[in-house]
Amino acid sequence: MATTSTAGHASIGLEKTTTTAAVAGPLGALPGELKYVQYEHSLESAYLPAIRALISKDLSEPYSIYVYRYFLYQWGHLCFMALHPEDSSLVGVIICKLEPHASHSPPTLRGYIAMLAVSAAYRGHGVATALVKKAIDAMAQRNADEIVLETEETNVPAMRLYERLGFLRSKKLHRYYLNGNSAYRLVLLLKRIDPDAAADFALDDGDITPR
Ligand SMILES: CC(C)(COP(=O)(O)OP(=O)(O)OC[C@H]1O[C@@H](n2cnc3c(N)ncnc32)[C@H](O)[C@@H]1OP(=O)(O)O)[C@@H](O)C(=O)NCCC(=O)NCCS
Repeated sequence: MATTSTAGHASIGLEKTTTTAAVAGPLGALPGELKYVQYEHSLESAYLPAIRALISKDLSEPYSIYVYRYFLYQWGHLCFMALHPEDSSLVGVIICKLEPHASHSPPTLRGYIAMLAVSAAYRGHGVATALVKKAIDAMAQRNADEIVLETEETNVPAMRLYERLGFLRSKKLHRYYLNGNSAYRLVLLLKRIDPDAAADFALDDGDITPR
């Protein structure tokens, strides 16, 4: 995902929560425990505008509503939101998909992290780490072989985050984004795979990837 460097957060209401996590970090403690919520279709009217606003703030190339719906309609169970404990406003979000990847032989079940953003005011507290771990767990539970993503080579916070969680650089994608910046494709292998198939990681470009 191609990014710029600013963000804020939007305020909305919500009932249903899944888990909570204590947060404290180098920028000072958050005002309590964030709520981590799995996205579901009934939350669209309450949260889709805030999701778009949060992600768009950091994008050099904004996505259309159809890109969000493409992911959220089919893989809402792989999308998670971090919500402010007091007003349930959106603090962070991760959007993913999981599909067979036919250009590997045999085909792998490939998870894909399409979008990740945390409100600027709440960065450095482990919110993105918690969101990525939830997404990894959800995809692993659904038998994913691997999880991939692209991130801008200059996006140091994102590169550090993913590499700390075990993602490896599989390929450099030169001038991948419309702004001319290059990207790295990162991969997290969840299972042992055929060494011949592993060679494909350096070759394939088969995803529908929002840019
Ligand atoms: C990249 C991004 C999602 C990271 O979000 P974040 O919530 O700040 O990430 P985390 O807090 O989990 O991790 C950031 C750092 O805080 C540290 N940290 C996490 N929890 C902590 C805690 N409780 N106490 C102290 N430090 C902590 C982490 O170790 C990490 O340090 P690192 O730089 O050594 O990796 C955020 O910067 C962002 O939204 N950027 C714009 C959008 C973007 O680039 N998205 C990714 C596109 S692929």
